[in-house]
Amino acid sequence: MISSMAASHAIWPKEDDAIFGLAAKAQQAVKKHGKDKVINSTLGALMDDNGDLICMKTVYDELKSMPNANLAAYALVAGQPDFLEAVQEACFREFKPDAFIKAVATPGGTGSVRHTIFNYTNPGDTVLVSDWYWKPYVTISEEFGRKVSHYKLFNDKNEFNIESFKENFETLLNKQKRLVAIINSPAQNPTGYSLSDEEWQQVIDIMKENAKNQDNRIILLIDVAYIDFAGKGNERRKFFKLFSNLPENILVVVGYSLSKGYTMYGMRLGAAIGISSNKDIAEEFYYSCAHSNRANWSNCNRGAMEVMARICKDPDKFKAYEEEKDLYKTMLQKRAEAFVKASEEVGLEILPYRDGFFISIPCDNAKEISDKLMEENLFLIPLKKGLRFAVCAVAEDKCRIAPAMIKKVMDSLK
Ligand SMILES: Cc1ncc(COP(=O)(O)O)c(C=O)c1O
Repeated sequence: MISSMAASHAIWPKEDDAIFGLAAKAQQAVKKHGKDKVINSTLGALMDDNGDLICMKTVYDELKSMPNANLAAYALVAGQPDFLEAVQEACFREFKPDAFIKAVATPGGTGSVRHTIFNYTNPGDTVLVSDWYWKPYVTISEEFGRKVSHYKLFNDKNEFNIESFKENFETLLNKQKRLVAIINSPAQNPTGYSLSDEEWQQVIDIMKENAKNQDNRIILLIDVAYIDFAGKGNERRKFFKLFSNLPENILVVVGYSLSKGYTMYGMRLGAAIGISSNKDIAEEFYYSCAHSNRANWSNCNRGAMEVMARICKDPDKFKAYEEEKDLYKTMLQKRAEAFVKASEEVGLEILPYRDGFFISIPCDNAKEISDKLMEENLFLIPLKKGLRFAVCAVAEDKCRIAPAMIKKVMDSLK
């Protein structure tokens, strides 16, 4: 009996996605005990107070008004031109950097991470990621024979750890002469941290200093998957302006996703947006990504592209979309405020939360705590360095009681 047919690079541990596994357990608990008795903070999707998936009406009314042929047809490999224009507007708003900018459609933000890692590192290279991180950065890197090294996200003062970033950045760059560094901000998954504009400036200063060596190739991937739910108004987009007129050996790639901001998770659409002060580098980015599209999934979801382009092009539709999204943004911010305040009241240590879908609780025995909390029908995600609570999926009243439950279990296991 043979036990394997796959080529050696394609053999991986036989493990199912842990998050979806826990979400399924939470759903079983709901069936058994009722919605009121269960806190399901597993999935990174926006749920209403009843635990049902929020699907934005302005988005789905537009989708359903479209002729079948517009949904069914193939799209252009790099993406439909009106979408590629709209996605830049939607991403940057009034803070578009002064640079050459090219966008390519990708299936979700995931596609932009894939393209940046594959197209801007060599086999065996190491990608730089923070120590609190979204796991697919590692999965994607592994898939292509790349390694991952981690900088510490926070210093002792719970601010962005610029020293750790600098040290790891320079070590890898000096060794490899090219580096893809990933920063997931605003609204980082899993901590909810957003770099301040001053912290962004420090990151840019480090990149610029290292760009003085013309042999260096610096690629900064900014994962903004949650930007549409971050900050007041567009304040969390201001930092984009800082990417104006950078040295030519710095390429910034923004990974934009329509999964959260347009509640189109399963429709798989996003964009990789390349920013460079050199026209040829921006064009090269476009053609590398377009080639990767063709080679991997050919083209992306045309209906989703058209929905977004139609909404963004029409001022009335855009206003209605923004109003609807802002209601959910406020709902999310209230939930997070409730969780943060209740944590303070019961003395539960959490990581600095600024924006977004998740809050993290640092601890060493996350799995043990999570297992015990499951017995009390509180479902959250154990990570290597702590627990992730998805405020996006839990009603405000439950966000208020969860910290005390978590603290009690943590104390009982000390
Ligand atoms: C940090 C982060 N980046 C990117 C994504 C992209 O997701 P998608 O490919 O569904 O747009 C997600 C979604 O969970 C995420 O959490």
